[in-house]
This record gives sequence, C-alpha cells and structure tokens, in this order.
Amino acid sequence: MPGFFITFEGIDGSGKSTQARRLAEALKARGLPVTLTREPGGSEGGEEIRRLLVEGAPGRWSPVTELLLFNAARRDHLERLVAPRLEAGEIVISDRFADSTRVYQGAIDPSLRAMAEEIHRLAIGREADLTFLIDTSPDLAARRGRPGREDRFEAKGDAFQRRLAAAFRALAEAEPARIVRIDGNRPADEIADEILRITLARLPAPLARKGGGNG
Ligand code: ADP
Ligand code: TYD
Repeated sequence: MPGFFITFEGIDGSGKSTQARRLAEALKARGLPVTLTREPGGSEGGEEIRRLLVEGAPGRWSPVTELLLFNAARRDHLERLVAPRLEAGEIVISDRFADSTRVYQGAIDPSLRAMAEEIHRLAIGREADLTFLIDTSPDLAARRGRPGREDRFEAKGDAFQRRLAAAFRALAEAEPARIVRIDGNRPADEIADEILRITLARLPAPLARKGGGNG
C-alpha cells in the first residue's frame, strides 16, 4: 500500500494519545495527508463495539469473547477506514492496534497468546509500518490519572499495569525493526520532538518529499 501506517502503544495513562495527536498535528503542519484514529473504535462499527468493551463490569465478557470483540472492532476499522486511507496514500496514525491485543489479552490469559496470533493472521493480516511504544513507569502513568467512565480495564490495578509494561517491552525487543521504544517519563514536548524526527526519517520517499525531506 502506498501510505504509511503508524501505531502508538503503551499502558493506560502512558501518554500515547497525547503523542499520537501531537504527531498528527506536526505532520499536517508540514502539509502531509494524515488520519488520526484509535482502537478499539475508529470506524462507526468499531466505536459501537468499543462501547461493549470498555463499559460495564470487569467480568462482563470471557477472555475469549473479549479477544473476538477486539478483533471484530479491528476488522471493521481496517476495512472501513485504515486500508482505504492507506490506499489513498495517506499517513494513518492509530492510538493502539494489534500489539494491545497481544499484550492485554495475553496478560489476562497467557493461554490465549497463540489463539490471538492465529486470529490476527486470519482476520487482520497486517502490521503497522512503524510502532511507537510509549514506555512510561506504571506509577507515573497512574499519577497522571484520567477522569471518565471507561474504566473496565483500568480497574484491574497496579500489578496488572506492571505486567503490561513488561509485556510491551518484551514485544519491542522481539520486533526491533518495527517497534521503537520511547522513554515516556519525560516532558511531552521532548517526547514529541523525538517521535517526529524518527517518523520523518522513516517515511517512504513520496511522502518524505511532500513533507520537506527526511528531517
Ligand atoms: P494514554 O492515551 O496513554 O492513556 P494520555 O495521552 O491520555 O495517555 O495522557 C494521560 C494524562 O497525562 C493526560 O492528562 C495528559 O495530558 C497527561 N500527559 C501526557 N503526556 C504527558 C507527559 N509527557 N508529561 C506529563 N503529563 C502528560
Ligand atoms: P484506550 O481507550 O486506548 O485506553 P487508554 O486511553 O486508557 O489507554 O483502550 C481502552 C482499553 O482497552 C485499554 O485499557 C486497553 C484495552 N485494549 C485491550 O485490552 N485490547 C486491545 O486490543 C485494545 C485495542 C485495547
């Protein structure tokens, strides 16, 4: 596909939504075509499935049902939004994608890791071109806090957030060509500068030319 697909990953409160937004703004300011989106959600159907996932009691779904719902949301998002925009040559930035399923659903039930990979291969079949792991200490992420009622996952507690952080790091070590680990324990401006520099250096030639070269 002619576009460029960037994803942001990290634990809850790591600062990834802030950085996804900052990168989208910086690239748009350079005249590049950018779509900023998120998972679960992003498309109309994806957002409907999101409500089923993030609201309600922690035990609302079994781990397998939850895995299927995240993939259903992702399939709709990919079909309706991500793939068409990439085909049109845009940069698509998604706040979370498939690594979140590997890490979260894998942490909830390690026996689901193999099933998660198989479903991904069959139903999604695509990775990001570039993934930023915003690696923020769970204590700091928790202190930053976030209001709101989408709390089904955050209700799982500190020990769970630490397991997630470790699983994200392991994924980044296993896939160094795609996943760039960014120290999230710094001021947002400093992080945004680093991410923009890396992105400009990795854009495919036609987009890099539009954005004024490789930084
Ligand atoms: P996430 O999407 O990972 O849950 P957010 O980007 O929503 O995280 O950030 C969580 C909170 O922390 C927000 O209130 C945001 O303004 C704040 N925040 C984000 N990045 C930083 C940073 N580098 N330093 C301090 N606060 C931050
Ligand atoms: P999100 O809105 O990104 O939460 P936050 O802003 O707190 O990072 O995602 C909602 C929750 O869903 C979040 O706790 C992570 C979880 N999640 C999964 O468990 N699996 C997935 O595949 C995705 C995309 C998210």
